[in-house]
Amino acid sequence: MEAAMIAPALALTAFLAAPAGAQTRSAPDLLPIPARVSSMGGEFRLTPDFKVALEGPAPARLRKALARFRRRLSDRTGLRLAPETGPQPAALAVSIQRTGRLVLHEDETYGLEVSSSAMRLSARTDIGAIRGLETLLQLLDADANGYFFSAVRIEDKPRFPWRGLLMDVSRHFMPVEVLKRNIDGLAAVKMNVLHLHLSDYQGFRVECLSFPRLHEQGSDGWYYTQEQIREILAYADERGVRVVPEFDIPGHSTSWFVGYPELASTPGPYRVERRYGVFSSAFNPAAQSTYAFLDKFFAEMAVLFPDDYVHIGGDEVDGADWEANPGIRKFMKDNAIADTHELQAYFNQRLLAILGKYGKKMIGWDEILRPDMPKSIVIQSWQGRQRLAESAKNGFMGILSADYYIDIYKSAGFHYLNDPLDKESSLSEEERARVLGGEATMWSEFVTPENIDARVWPRTAAIAERLWSPAQVDDLDDMYRRLAKASLRLEELGLTHIKNYDMMLRRLAGGPDTAAVKTLADVLEPVKDWWRFSRETPYQTGSPYTRLVDAVAAESEVARSFAKLVDEFLADRKTGAQEIRARLIQWSMNDARFQPIARRSPILREALPLSANLSGLARAGLRSLDHIPGGGMDKALTRELMGLVDEARTDYGGAQLAVTVSVQKLVEAAARQP
Ligand code: ACM
Repeated sequence: MEAAMIAPALALTAFLAAPAGAQTRSAPDLLPIPARVSSMGGEFRLTPDFKVALEGPAPARLRKALARFRRRLSDRTGLRLAPETGPQPAALAVSIQRTGRLVLHEDETYGLEVSSSAMRLSARTDIGAIRGLETLLQLLDADANGYFFSAVRIEDKPRFPWRGLLMDVSRHFMPVEVLKRNIDGLAAVKMNVLHLHLSDYQGFRVECLSFPRLHEQGSDGWYYTQEQIREILAYADERGVRVVPEFDIPGHSTSWFVGYPELASTPGPYRVERRYGVFSSAFNPAAQSTYAFLDKFFAEMAVLFPDDYVHIGGDEVDGADWEANPGIRKFMKDNAIADTHELQAYFNQRLLAILGKYGKKMIGWDEILRPDMPKSIVIQSWQGRQRLAESAKNGFMGILSADYYIDIYKSAGFHYLNDPLDKESSLSEEERARVLGGEATMWSEFVTPENIDARVWPRTAAIAERLWSPAQVDDLDDMYRRLAKASLRLEELGLTHIKNYDMMLRRLAGGPDTAAVKTLADVLEPVKDWWRFSRETPYQTGSPYTRLVDAVAAESEVARSFAKLVDEFLADRKTGAQEIRARLIQWSMNDARFQPIARRSPILREALPLSANLSGLARAGLRSLDHIPGGGMDKALTRELMGLVDEARTDYGGAQLAVTVSVQKLVEAAARQP
């Protein structure tokens, strides 16, 4: 029955099939799109006597979820809704069969029926019901007569069981409030795993009672108390979100060695790392005392973190510190361990036994994959989708993170089209089932509590849809349309991805007048990929992350919509001409407004060339528009305008103009011979 639910051709029926111009009733902006949606016509009108009835089991998780649901509904509509549950007839009947468990493969199926007279949400588990309540909130709409839910029938279940976000709280510590609001965000887009990267070179972030020097000396005072961890876990549990802790070993481990240098492969002394990159510090896998320590450590953490899985990291061990230690070299020789990869495999086998003792399963990065590992482990692939497929063929479960690296400023569309399962995949049904899903990775070298939400959202919502919705749901324009709405809804949950942008711009401008700064910032993006890790860049953990590059969105919405306008215009040489011209005029005049602000706000000076180039680019666009539709702009002028375009490609202060290609298209069209 479950397979039949999503197997047939998608029943996105009336909504998605409706022509975009049909304005009678807009399509519901659901994100992620459910497995099956059918429009029933009509709507359920929301009135203050709206009541919810819980039929059958009423676990605390569900009752709390309903209270939050009512609160959000009330906040959004301004209606003072009647008490949570009431006598029949209730407007919304909610029924579940049992309390869900926060485990991999738990049932998240739900069905939702909205008619003009009643609404019904049914699910096998309270976790499924929580997913359904988020859908219902997304169905809320309004017209001149008030608020309503469009009549629909939805049958929904996730495509993948593991849909997560990694938050690196080591490079930059994220206070409890940051985690909570992001857990709300995850639940809103039906993600179900928060992966906490709790230790790395730059910080050890959990209070450890057995070995207190871990948090005392490895954290600069920035760590979660166990009480706080329990608070985060309870918050996540209430929203149907698992919390998977990662302790990245044997590499990525400097912070452990500050308080316990005897664990390391070289004598130290160690200090909390301030720089970024990959370093050679590593646990000593040849010392039996290492395993005694880790045994006691994981005994404690296994109780603190209830999830079945513990993530042991395992990435990027370069082996240099092992080679440098004669005792370790002798250990390898004595035990016929051929190389440092095999030595890490030995270390992992020892860890496996320790985790097993405490009832835990192991997850780790690609590097832990060895044929002799048990098939119960999960591989988190950061090295590519191909690796995931190979693992699946070899019998291993895996999740995808390659190309879900949201820290490197790629577009939502890029991440959206990255499917854990290749459409042409040659995997058998059984092998495909081993591909469990994926996680967006929010590595935190270049984010602080102030701008992390803007790096996570809204792009992670696009990944959430990829992991929840049927594979055939892949229309980029439609995704972006819904993403813009989802982004506003996410803001209601306390996420700061929109409002902190304006705050950061005000600080950069040194005052409330940010118009010119915003006009520029709106068309900037950080340079993509890994440039900020290069040896030439001076970044450290203590650096300020308040520059223009830290404020601008990973993906410029203005640039994206301008690109669409230009493409549509160039297709018929008519559509959108006025809007394009208006934008170009605004940009062409912006530099004169930006300059005085940058003169009194030195932090902005690095953006002066970008501002000048934006205005130059806009002039090139305007001159080109004058020659379209006819084309045939003369060669000298074309050369001059292309010069402006080329100049605009240069990045400054880590940021680049995101409208350059669109203007280039205008210049090329103007130059084309008729
Ligand atoms: C990783 O990016 N080293 C997992």
